[in-house]
Amino acid sequence: MGLSEGLIFRNRKVLAEQYIPPELRVRKREATFLVRKLLSRFSEGRAGDVVAIFGSPGRSGIGKTTLTKYVGYKLEELARQRGIRFKFIYTNVYSAPSLYEILTVIAGQLSPRINLKGSSTLEALKAIVDYLYEKSYYVLIAIDEFQNLVNSPKVDDAYLYSLIRIYEQVPPPDGIPRISYLLVASDYLVFSKLRSKMPQIESQITFRQHLEPYRVDELYEILEQRAQLAFYDNAWSPKILEIIASYYGVDGTGIRDGNARRAINALNTAAEYAEFEGSNVIMEEHVRKALSVDSMANVSAQDLEGLSTHELLVLLAVAQHTMRSSEPLTTGRLRQLYKEIAEYYGETPRGHSQFNQYINNLASIGLLNVTPSGKGMRGRTSIIQLPVEIPATALYEVVEEIIKRKTGIGVRNWI
Ligand SMILES: Nc1ncnc2c1ncn2[C@@H]1O[C@H](COP(=O)(O)OP(=O)(O)O)[C@@H](O)[C@H]1O
Ligand SMILES: [Mg+2]
Repeated sequence: MGLSEGLIFRNRKVLAEQYIPPELRVRKREATFLVRKLLSRFSEGRAGDVVAIFGSPGRSGIGKTTLTKYVGYKLEELARQRGIRFKFIYTNVYSAPSLYEILTVIAGQLSPRINLKGSSTLEALKAIVDYLYEKSYYVLIAIDEFQNLVNSPKVDDAYLYSLIRIYEQVPPPDGIPRISYLLVASDYLVFSKLRSKMPQIESQITFRQHLEPYRVDELYEILEQRAQLAFYDNAWSPKILEIIASYYGVDGTGIRDGNARRAINALNTAAEYAEFEGSNVIMEEHVRKALSVDSMANVSAQDLEGLSTHELLVLLAVAQHTMRSSEPLTTGRLRQLYKEIAEYYGETPRGHSQFNQYINNLASIGLLNVTPSGKGMRGRTSIIQLPVEIPATALYEVVEEIIKRKTGIGVRNWI
């Protein structure tokens, strides 16, 4: 049996990062709205919209790029059917290129016949505008990771201004605007900044689409579509998709980051585990392993390696308690567990104030959550928990490895 055949995968490409599904089952409303709106402008001969698509700070994998490309490709398809000459141009300004570099990309995607060599920025703008006029072409230019242009100290305001308000620099010969923009940014902060820095550009924005992180039901639909395309019918079950969706969905019970990229990756990893084991079905255990490996990516190995042996012992005690019991872990109980584990490793347990210091330090680097206990408990007792995004089992294994290395003692029989 060749590697590509396998028992699980029908089509691996469907799980690749750049894959755009033929239909968007989630965000369908947003996509349809944008496609209709932009298409009607081309039909009426008055393009020139500036549309902003953005998420919330710190959230990614929420479909900004996917929605953008889907809208672009759909518009190309519909324009073709209606005999409208239209082209979608996608640029990603991840590395904050110069205006000239962006214009080169745009010209290159439009036609190899536009030659920008040796021309000034203004001439390059004019060459593009003239080409669109001559060919009666409409374009939608997507600028993904737009925040990099706004935030880059290398990119000056005049440059952004002449890109977005291109027709002020170079009016179209027949007065028909043919260029629309989709500005795709990580979050709204970029547009607030734009408003104070360059109100003339911000006021050009005709429509704003804010995207929220995905909910459990949305992730389920996204995963189901991928599973149907990527795997053989009997290789997957709704149950495994439910586990992944509720792990990543914002209203779920896991790390709740609402990130479709991570959810799809986890599905792919689980499938690879199943395949590696020679199984023809992706099972829950494959999914759990994939999830715990992914969530350990939240914990920096450097943070762990930088901890003292006794801090590691405290962390090990918390992980062990979390694996065994659903009882809240009080500082008193944790201290007792820590003492037992320390003694097991031949380490003398440290005193009260040192112990508190360890907890404070672990909390300050985000490895523990400490909350004051509610009523019914005496004194200044706190409840210690692992942050929801750190899985106890995976943490236990990693910390145990480090302690073994530091103390030279194996503890395989401890649990
Ligand atoms: N609505 C959706 N339907 C299907 N797949 C999606 C959807 N939203 C996101 N994805 C998938 O999730 C991954 C991340 O999405 P992406 O658009 O790159 O997120 P962002 O640009 O917001 O970081 C991609 O692989 C994409 O195919
Ligand atoms: Mg993106």
